[in-house]
Amino acid sequence: MTKVAPSMLSADFSRLGDEIKRIEAAGADWAHLDVMDGMFVPNITFGPGVIKSIRKLTKMPFDVHLMIQHPLRYVETFADAGSDMLTIHVEAEGNVKATLKKIRDIGLKPGITLNPGTPVEKLDPYLDLVDLVLIMTVEAGFGGQSFQEVGLSKISYIRKYADSQNPKLEISVDGGINSVTGKRCVDAGATVLAAGSSLFTLDDMGKQIALWKMYGPNAKE
Ligand code: DX5
Ligand code: ZN
Repeated sequence: MTKVAPSMLSADFSRLGDEIKRIEAAGADWAHLDVMDGMFVPNITFGPGVIKSIRKLTKMPFDVHLMIQHPLRYVETFADAGSDMLTIHVEAEGNVKATLKKIRDIGLKPGITLNPGTPVEKLDPYLDLVDLVLIMTVEAGFGGQSFQEVGLSKISYIRKYADSQNPKLEISVDGGINSVTGKRCVDAGATVLAAGSSLFTLDDMGKQIALWKMYGPNAKE
C-alpha cells in the first residue's frame, strides 16, 4: 500500500489543530511538515514551536522536510519538537553525512532530498545512511507548482537501489502530486506521496487518500 503524507503547507494555518486532525481522520499515514527559513528557499513557513504545539494532537508520524540552510544546527531542536523523520537537502550547507548521522544518533529517521535540477547521483554517497529519499518534483519553496517530469526517472533510479540494497527504504515524492501524477510516481517505484494543494482543496480528501493507498506495489515490508 502506498503511504500518503499530506503537506500541511496547504492547510489553513489559523486552524492548524483542526487541520492535523482532519488529515488523520481522512486516513493520512504521515503529516508532511515543510520548514522553510527564507535563506535556503525564499519562503518562510513555521518552525519547531509550531510542530511542538501540534505534536500533542496526533500520533501520526511527523515527516519533517527541512528547507533550511544549516540543518546540522537544528537537529536537536526538531527532535525535541517531536519529529519522527527529518529530511535534509543535499544542496544545504554543512556536512551532509555528519548531519544524517546526528539525526540517526538522536533517534530519528534520517531522510535526504534534492531539488529537480540536482542530479540524482548526488545522493549516492548518502543512500546507506537514510530511511527515506524524498524526490522533489517541484522547486522547493512553494506549494501549488506543476509537477516536473524529471522526478520520475529519479524515482526509478532510487527504486533500483532500494530493490537491491534496502527494500525497506521509503521513496517519497513531493510537489505537484494529484490523481494523475500520484499514480505515475507509484508506478515508477515511489512508496509515499506527499501532497498539498491537490488534497486540501477537496471537500472529501479521504476519497483521494484511499485511492492513492490502493496503488502499489510498494516498499517491501
Ligand atoms: C514545496 C514543499 C511541498 C509542497 C507541496 O517546497 O516541499 O511539500 O507543500 O505542495 P503541492 O502538493 O501543492 O505541490
Ligand atoms: Zn515538502
